[in-house]
Amino acid sequence: MTASTASPASGSVTSRGRIELGHAPMDAIHREFYDCMDALRGPRDRAESLLVLHEHLLRHFAQEEHWMRETAFPACACHAREHEMALDVVAEVRRRHDAGDTEIVDRLAEELPQWFAVHASAMDAALAEYLRTGAMGPAAHAELAT
Ligand SMILES: [Fe+2]
Ligand SMILES: [Fe+2]
Repeated sequence: MTASTASPASGSVTSRGRIELGHAPMDAIHREFYDCMDALRGPRDRAESLLVLHEHLLRHFAQEEHWMRETAFPACACHAREHEMALDVVAEVRRRHDAGDTEIVDRLAEELPQWFAVHASAMDAALAEYLRTGAMGPAAHAELAT
């Protein structure tokens, strides 16, 4: 996970710091992600919050990958690789939490939103633009160049 911030190539950032990309179904999934992160930082049982987050990410990423395959989105492989890496991290955090490492959850709660900000601002923004316009806009071209 990298600790950096980014603003979306398309879309906007709300007053709560939530990225919105102008593609309603994707924005709805992303609101679920932010809610999962709020729950992870809240008073609820952390094992349960980690499970809910993990299940959310599996569904979230599967939906985006379905959209990419359905539309033959050109940057599909590299976008899906980022999803896979994030899922690997969450699975490892769950394993370590179950083994008694509680600090690892604090790190995830801090670093996953930072990773997501970069991912959503680049890869998801490019996909949202492609889904909205049916064409490769500047964000999608920039994504392909990376
Ligand atoms: Fe996403
Ligand atoms: Fe994504």
